Amino acid sequence: MSNEIPQRVFSGVQPTGNLTLGNYLGAIRRFVALQEHHSCIYCVVDLHAITIAQDPRELMDATRSVAAAYIAAGIDVSKHIVFNQSRVHQHAELAWVFNCIARMGWLSRMTQFKEKAGKDREKASVGLFSYPTLMAADILLYRGTHVPVGDDQKQHLELTRDIAQKFNNDFSDRIAELGLGVEMEIGREIVNGYFPLTEPLIEGPATRIMSLRDGTKKMSKSDPSDMSRINLTDTEDDIAKKIRKAKTDPEPLPSEVEGLENRPEAANLVSIFGALTDKEPGTVLQEYGGKPFSEFKPILAEVAIDAITPITSEMRRLSADPAYIDSVLANGGEQASAIAAETMRDVRDIVGLLA
Ligand code: TYM
Repeated sequence: MSNEIPQRVFSGVQPTGNLTLGNYLGAIRRFVALQEHHSCIYCVVDLHAITIAQDPRELMDATRSVAAAYIAAGIDVSKHIVFNQSRVHQHAELAWVFNCIARMGWLSRMTQFKEKAGKDREKASVGLFSYPTLMAADILLYRGTHVPVGDDQKQHLELTRDIAQKFNNDFSDRIAELGLGVEMEIGREIVNGYFPLTEPLIEGPATRIMSLRDGTKKMSKSDPSDMSRINLTDTEDDIAKKIRKAKTDPEPLPSEVEGLENRPEAANLVSIFGALTDKEPGTVLQEYGGKPFSEFKPILAEVAIDAITPITSEMRRLSADPAYIDSVLANGGEQASAIAAETMRDVRDIVGLLA
């Protein structure tokens, strides 16, 4: 029995449509940075993708393409685990247990469900409603302690903590009896639990990259307008054109961050520039304050092209060899399965499910 939960990073990306600059700056680039000092598991969440109807062939291509993006961005698959979720059946199994822990009220408050289901909720899949319990299962199956995500996933991670806490609480006697508990500090209390209370890592300059057409909307792979986003598959010309046409206001850039208030499009372009060049918005404005967008945009385009095109061409090279990608996913799946099987054995024991 081990009485310490080791630090472990877990995160995932859905294989639905093209990856965007938002996915890269808000998530994938941070996955790469975290691998230096942590043991990491990065998943392509294909079971989440099918909460909305997908074309089977496109789903397989998109799954390989997200894996290619992870590798092209610099994730070292010889040191960390990369796999697709559906390969490890325990994700679905633990999600069922969590469906019985989470409350209808908790899930009904999820803003992502409300947005994705739209007006006609009766027609949304049950999977879309219970999506966050599968996400909690993804993380807790590996007893993930740190989860790097963009700002839009914050509510799902709070729910993951609520599920872990309720599970620990509902089964506290049994967890203690089996000697499977770990001491954790919650608020000022020390409690004994099986699942860690995961820390969301929502940090850095790019936790919420906005649409290039509307600075109040998130940049998203599902936006009907392709001009609203930069895709990781875009050519240099596409990137330059999208930045040139990005919506802005008529004023030049301010010299200080306060001047970005109520200027969402200007603020977005400055934060993209900052994220791509590892500079604080204030530093970007010291350099470019007073300049019109007609001067700033071409420089931003160049910076974006320099950052993205090496990844795009590596993704293309990798995608030409699907057998290699499949072998990475199979290998990662095996490693993930070994950890998942151990957790599920404990969970079955805790809950009272005969093996
Ligand atoms: P998904 O596939 O929508 O997005 C993948 C990651 O990209 C981040 N992201 C952004 N960050 C900044 N600006 C943006 N405009 C932007 N758009 C997307 C997301 O926050 C996310 O980190 N539910 C998750 C996938 C998931 C998961 C998990 C994540 C399933 N299980 C377990 C972490 C842990 C999702 O739909 O991400």
